[in-house]
Amino acid sequence: MTLHSLIDVLPKAELHLHIEGTLEPEMMLALAKRNGVELPYNSVAEVQAAYEFDCLQDFLDVYYQGMSVLINERDFYDLTMAYLEKVHGQGVRHVEIFFDPQAHMERGVAFETVLGGISSALETAGREMDMTSKLIMCFLRHLDEEDAFGALNCACKHKEHIYAVGLDSSEAGRPPELFSRVFAKARAQGFKAVAHAGEEGPAAYIETALDDLKVSRVDHGNRAFENPALVARMAAEQMPLTMCPLSNLRLKGITDLKEHPIKKALNAGLLATVNSDDPSYFGGYVNENYKQVADAVGLTGEDIVTLAKNSFKASFQSPSEKQAYL
Ligand code: HPA
Ligand code: ZN
Repeated sequence: MTLHSLIDVLPKAELHLHIEGTLEPEMMLALAKRNGVELPYNSVAEVQAAYEFDCLQDFLDVYYQGMSVLINERDFYDLTMAYLEKVHGQGVRHVEIFFDPQAHMERGVAFETVLGGISSALETAGREMDMTSKLIMCFLRHLDEEDAFGALNCACKHKEHIYAVGLDSSEAGRPPELFSRVFAKARAQGFKAVAHAGEEGPAAYIETALDDLKVSRVDHGNRAFENPALVARMAAEQMPLTMCPLSNLRLKGITDLKEHPIKKALNAGLLATVNSDDPSYFGGYVNENYKQVADAVGLTGEDIVTLAKNSFKASFQSPSEKQAYL
């Protein structure tokens, strides 16, 4: 069996996926029409031409503009269903999906509209495709603590649908510790915690995500390798890393996929996983991430099996749910 067909057939979990980042140009244009939203693009080619990014902020500007077409519960349902159907065909059996309610609430879309559409699609996928899921609500770190507390208060009314909280958006100059109190309240309310750290920000942000936010996983974490003691600690703790190779390439964290630290992470004994982040914007869903990084850094079949197993080990599934895949 070739490496690529192994990747196609292995059961996998996806743990780092922003649902708003799955909005394909065709759906963006169709929803703009359905909802009467003005976009600066008139064709798929024009949308795609905007997907040239020099850094995270370049991407975020386009990402927040793109999501302006999402207005009604049905839009969030259609968006989520399209993603789930796509990755079901790639062997994904479990998903832990991020969503960004503050980005919708600030445009006048109610928290319940967003959550209702996404969670109904997750229920449909559970029923019809036997896919399991958890939902992770992210706080936007470019906004202040008070705004994050507002989102947390909304989440507290819907604990049956939201399993964990996360931290995303512009990382530079916005260290995790700015949100220590929000995360402390979220954990006290029973939510698990994850955070983007060390994507563009320094290794010190990974340390404060661990120590101050008490996260169960680090999203990205690429810059951990600047601090060998931190790598050793994360290996000892089996602290999962949700890595996203094509995202790192497209946002210029690396200039060539050959530089991606996924193999280094496995060699260091880290619980590393492969994910797609924002597949519509970064040119590939989870299997394209596996295949392209495997070819670039020379992953073996054994590495691929380890990464797929890691995706379940690192998930929030119960030990008995995980066992079926290990
Ligand atoms: N990084 C930070 N915030 C994000 C991303 C990302 O890659 N995608 C959506 N929000
Ligand atoms: Zn991300």
